[in-house]
Amino acid sequence: VTLTFYEQTGIRKIVSGMAGISLMELAKANDIAGIDGDCGGACSCGTCCVIIENSAAMNLEQVSDAELGILEFVSDDIVEGQRLACQIDVTNILEGAVIKVAT
Ligand code: FES
Repeated sequence: VTLTFYEQTGIRKIVSGMAGISLMELAKANDIAGIDGDCGGACSCGTCCVIIENSAAMNLEQVSDAELGILEFVSDDIVEGQRLACQIDVTNILEGAVIKVAT
C-alpha cells in the first residue's frame, strides 16, 4: 500500500507499507512528524490525529465512541476525514490516499 502524508509544515512524504499494521504504526515507522502515538494505539492519547482526504469514498472502519471522544478532546471542530490513525488498519482501501497530520 502506498500513500502520501503531509506533515503540518507542508512537507510531503510518500510511504509504502504492508497491510496488517495501523496507520499510526506506518506513520511512525516512516518518521512522520506530528504522529507520536504516545498511548501505543490504545485510543487514549490523541497524538495520532490525521485528516484523510476523500475518506467518504473509502470504506473505512466506523468511528467508535472511544475514538470520537478523543477526537472531541483534541479538536474543537472535527472536520470530515479526521481520524485517529491508530484506529485505521492499513489495507488496500488506503492505496493512493492523501493524509494530513492534524495534531
Ligand atoms: Fe494514542 Fe492513537 S496512538 S490515540
